[in-house]
Amino acid sequence: MKDLFSSFDLQGLSLPNRMVLSPMTRTRATEDDVPTDLMGDYYVQRASAGLLITECTQVSDQAHGIIRAPGIHRQDQIDGWRKITERVHAAGGRIYCQIWHCGRVAHPDMRGGAEPVGPSPLAATGDFYLPRGRVDFPVPRQLDASEIPAIIACFSTATRNAREAGFDGVELHGANGYLQDQFLRDGSNKRNDDYGGSVENRARLILETTQAMIEAWSADRVGVRLSPSSALYGMEDSNPLATFGYVVRALDTMRIGYVHLCEPNAKMLDSGRTPIVNVAETFRPLTSAPLMINTGFDKLKGNAVIADGHADLVSFGVPFIANPDLPERFRRDAPLNKPDPSTFYGEGPRGYTDYPALSQ
Ligand SMILES: Cc1cc2nc3c(=O)[nH]c(=O)nc-3n(C[C@H](O)[C@H](O)[C@H](O)COP(=O)(O)O)c2cc1C
Repeated sequence: MKDLFSSFDLQGLSLPNRMVLSPMTRTRATEDDVPTDLMGDYYVQRASAGLLITECTQVSDQAHGIIRAPGIHRQDQIDGWRKITERVHAAGGRIYCQIWHCGRVAHPDMRGGAEPVGPSPLAATGDFYLPRGRVDFPVPRQLDASEIPAIIACFSTATRNAREAGFDGVELHGANGYLQDQFLRDGSNKRNDDYGGSVENRARLILETTQAMIEAWSADRVGVRLSPSSALYGMEDSNPLATFGYVVRALDTMRIGYVHLCEPNAKMLDSGRTPIVNVAETFRPLTSAPLMINTGFDKLKGNAVIADGHADLVSFGVPFIANPDLPERFRRDAPLNKPDPSTFYGEGPRGYTDYPALSQ
């Protein structure tokens, strides 16, 4: 029977196991968004995963929404990432770059005054922190349809840059309330042009972005992440099953390399507002692409979702933050280190590269 420890052929890329490092922002790039050697240490420590997916990485200055998040639109950033991919490969790992545009989830104070942009003039909700403390999200400037081709072109260039930097593939961050998700869901998209209204129109940006990424590399090297049950940053949709069902089917016809889906987190489940409870099971029949599932998994649940055939791969977020050797710990049923949320978005090695491996 297949489980987390079974190998997997990801479109010709041979994964020794099915445990994936989930993409996670750790704010350890330089102040001008260049990947650092410390980030290389972090990824190398986790290279025993079947696949590593990087933190979200902005495709342009406009796409930048998190202080000290890395970019992949300048040569110094490409060079920084190349050092990391070379080290991961030398350690026996495989690594994809998650590429990203923050859309309305940003603040002018961290962007040289540039206002955030979005599908409609509706502010995100939730917590956003600047060095001076918590701030509200501003109302974004509504993007004109004429601006969209240039945004898509940034994803195309970022894909080519990721290839040049030595990544094994790219993942489009279509989840968690960022630009492509903002266009997709009708709670944040009130447009009445070709990018709003019907589900076909709302899905246009994410599908056109994916197509551009495919043309910049190839379909089997492009994954797409979606979070049908996430309410992060005030996201909502009147019919998530129809909206995400349409996108998952369309991505399938584009023959993408994998689809990466998030289950609702414990908070969503507790709230009773979860639109779709079993995301993997719901969407599995709609796609022939390899399905990666995430959120709230441990060894037992991960093995079960693979054995049941609802997913091919399981990505782990917080468990991998605290346990650089998570696959080995799962294999041996060893105790897990406890994560410290106060250092998730910190600076320096504390809470980043100082979690001990079993061998230590
Ligand atoms: C510190 C932190 C940063 C995150 N950053 C990202 C990100 O950059 N991109 C993304 O798609 N998800 C991001 N996430 C969500 C995780 O990838 C994952 O979906 C979430 O932690 C749930 O998985 P888990 O239950 O295995 O931790 C982040 C989560 C955490 C805890």
